[in-house]
Amino acid sequence: MIAEEQLRNLKNISYQAAGVYENTRFEKIHNVVFDDSNVASAIVAAEIASLIRTKQEENLPCVLGLATGSSPIKVYEELVRLHKEEGLSFENVVTFNLDEYYPMTKQNVQSYHYFMHEYLFNHIDIKPENVNIPKGDLEPDEILDFCVSYEEKIKSYGGLDFQLLGIGRTGHIGFNEPGSHYNSRTRLITLDHLTRSDASGAFLGLENVPKKAITMGVRTVMDAKRIVLLAWGQNKADIVKQTIEGEIDPSVPATYLQQHNNTTFVLNDEAASELTRIKTPWLVGPCDWTHELTKKAVFWLCDHTSKSILRLTDKDYNDNGMEGLLSHEGSSYDLNIKMFNELQHTISGWPGGKPNADDTNRPERAAPAKKRVIIFSPHPDDDVISMGGTFDRLVEQGHEVHVVYQTSGNIAVSNHEALKFAEVAASFDENNDLYNKIIDSINNNEEYVVDAPEVRALKGLIRQKESVAATRFVGIPDSQAHFLNLPFYETGTIKKNPLGQEDVDIMCDIIRAIKPHQIYAAGDLADPHGTHKVCLDALFEALKVLKPESFMEDCWVWLYRGAWHEWAMHEIEMAVPMSPDQVLRKRRAIFYHQSQKDGVMFQGDDSREFWVRAEERNKETAAKYHQLGLADYAAIEAFRRYYY
Ligand code: F6R
Repeated sequence: MIAEEQLRNLKNISYQAAGVYENTRFEKIHNVVFDDSNVASAIVAAEIASLIRTKQEENLPCVLGLATGSSPIKVYEELVRLHKEEGLSFENVVTFNLDEYYPMTKQNVQSYHYFMHEYLFNHIDIKPENVNIPKGDLEPDEILDFCVSYEEKIKSYGGLDFQLLGIGRTGHIGFNEPGSHYNSRTRLITLDHLTRSDASGAFLGLENVPKKAITMGVRTVMDAKRIVLLAWGQNKADIVKQTIEGEIDPSVPATYLQQHNNTTFVLNDEAASELTRIKTPWLVGPCDWTHELTKKAVFWLCDHTSKSILRLTDKDYNDNGMEGLLSHEGSSYDLNIKMFNELQHTISGWPGGKPNADDTNRPERAAPAKKRVIIFSPHPDDDVISMGGTFDRLVEQGHEVHVVYQTSGNIAVSNHEALKFAEVAASFDENNDLYNKIIDSINNNEEYVVDAPEVRALKGLIRQKESVAATRFVGIPDSQAHFLNLPFYETGTIKKNPLGQEDVDIMCDIIRAIKPHQIYAAGDLADPHGTHKVCLDALFEALKVLKPESFMEDCWVWLYRGAWHEWAMHEIEMAVPMSPDQVLRKRRAIFYHQSQKDGVMFQGDDSREFWVRAEERNKETAAKYHQLGLADYAAIEAFRRYYY
């Protein structure tokens, strides 16, 4: 959580002050964008707290509509802090939750009933009788009456004073899935496939996600006096844009919020990244033409006009809102050449630097010719999936490459895979207690239930040995493959512990031991379980600690993206091309991770296998370079430098 003093200052910031409010030509819903979702959440919590206090002064109940899911967690944590440290009382608060899965028992850890108590109600002084959550354990013939009484109860308090919302990628608010009517009220609804697939991680498999839910209706939400919708992360960017800029459309129920006159969307940079004023601000109004924005605009213009950089004309710039850029740069001719050269200079077949070459225009330094390199891999396979080609080149070019696997990745090994290994081992030693215990435990434990420690250990070992097979194939000694098994990950469930001091210390120790000239790490924030994000935070924390140490003066950090996204063209600072043969070698390296092939447990909503995703992504990046007018490579891996 954020520091005390920062929080005190925040309370003085209004949403309007935080957001860019003037360039909203395409926008139909008031929204504010923060670079830090923790800060944004604290401001939302402060608004709720202030409403509760105002109602207290007026001797009135404060009626809150509450949401579950990942988006509001920090708001609830901050409300709990306000209660514990600043005496905020919830005695006058009445809450109505948006929804609950159906069927669902209250005790189930996936129930919204459990969620709300875990994150909020168990830690504040709300009266239990003031907590209202749709019931997931009703008999079918009780549902209708329950829904009617839920609506009546809200009405009996004079309606919702404040409604907190998240947004699903289908555009649902509450569980009002596409097709929901504006006048819908609390009811049973069938969940969309995408919604169930997004929830499948938490439920450890799509088949465990309930097919239905009871949800407040669109009209129930719209009747709230004030609505704040939270959205964090790149995964929400498309639906946020559609909701804010699109037409009102029942197939995106959140667009109904355009008709509400007191709604604010609170977004972080990633969730706002598709909004026109952020993605293509030159289409909205005058811009401050920073270097980064110039690159972004020129590459966008190429895509928009289907031209390479050197073919862009003054007219192309003028027709697309970039006349300001042209007058700033002189002419399209000068600007085009500048941008072309810059892009050209990102390409290098020497990711560790080219020895004895002039490195003025190369992404990496020439010296020292032989570098010590750490590749941080959040799970045991991200190294080869995301940068297998570059890894291969670094080894081939004589650098001392260490791969550091941050987590064990054990939950992603299925029971049948683990059983196979346990049975092979037991065949050599039928009376071995450990092997038999593992086999029994797997046979008696349902899939998707927390594994016994021995089973988790076996699953972790499977991933370790697969990784060593892959790193041997690429050509590094086993002693240069390190397995940190960071403790934050070792919960045995999808929900991980927060990053702790022990994790950071382990990261510092390995960096200190290797004293690298280069660090590669996953800058991928779109991982469905957030493990990549925690692993990146662990690195950032370690870098803060190590920065004063002298060896760090010579250490550059490069970020690759994981299996789900690639850097945007204007963000790429090093592009490592691969030949068709290297593409095949990379594929083979990924194949060593057999437990992650063929219908892996945590697929996300992309059904392609990891090696296919990786290949298609690298091919696409190469195609983009070619479209912009550069050489035609088979594949490219892309990196962005991180300055710490
Ligand atoms: C939760 C709810 C849903 C979520 C939405 C986003 O009570 O009604 O609409 O707000 O699915 O979920 P997260 O926040 O997990 O992305």
